[in-house]
Amino acid sequence: VKSKDIKSDIDNSPADLRGAVPLAHHFLRAALRPGDRAVDATCGNGNDTLFLAGLVGAEGRVWAFDIQNDAICNTSALLFEHGCRSQVELAAVGHENLFETVREPVRAVVFNLGFLPGGDRCCMTLPHTTVAALGQALELLLLGGVVTVSMYPGHSGGDEESEAVESWGAALSPKLFNVWCNRQLNRSPAAPYLLLVERRAI
Ligand SMILES: C[S@@+](CC[C@H](N)C(=O)[O-])C[C@H]1O[C@@H](n2cnc3c(N)ncnc32)[C@H](O)[C@@H]1O
Repeated sequence: VKSKDIKSDIDNSPADLRGAVPLAHHFLRAALRPGDRAVDATCGNGNDTLFLAGLVGAEGRVWAFDIQNDAICNTSALLFEHGCRSQVELAAVGHENLFETVREPVRAVVFNLGFLPGGDRCCMTLPHTTVAALGQALELLLLGGVVTVSMYPGHSGGDEESEAVESWGAALSPKLFNVWCNRQLNRSPAAPYLLLVERRAI
């Protein structure tokens, strides 16, 4: 990822909303302000963490989780490269331990499910730990805060996980949460898509 790409991702340049991750970033850009707290539940190669770190700035805080040491190392290196390491706490544990690591309310939690691109497919996210972490994320979420979940039904196991996440989202009270399922209707049903949960600010 080049500095130029990150800058245009963070500022208000026109976005190409092809795919779940650019759409997640669109909602995160609207939700997060300098000084905010946020979580990247699956930091992988660090792209989403870097995006969050840029939005919350040096006064903010981001907690980034991953179970793979390579992911933690790649994320750390990317943050150093872009001068954003100081506002990020890296947690080399599963996101199902969210509560034990993050002790303050947050404005956004980002899940980018599946496996590390170019990495070990054995280390992909799993329905039961993902759903456990989503439950904890809602407990930490400020009023008006958002959870984004980028899902990949096109790979083996990803379809089951997407179904589990959809069932979890569908069961949330509409009095407390707005839950959106964003699919690109002009792509294959197996294309990545985005679940968005907003804690209602009422
Ligand atoms: C699609 S990748 C994330 C991409 C990343 N957000 C980025 O910007 O590069 C999914 C990541 O989830 C991680 N993962 C799998 N199970 C996890 C768990 N229980 N807790 C945290 N991370 C997990 C994998 O190791 C992998 O790095």
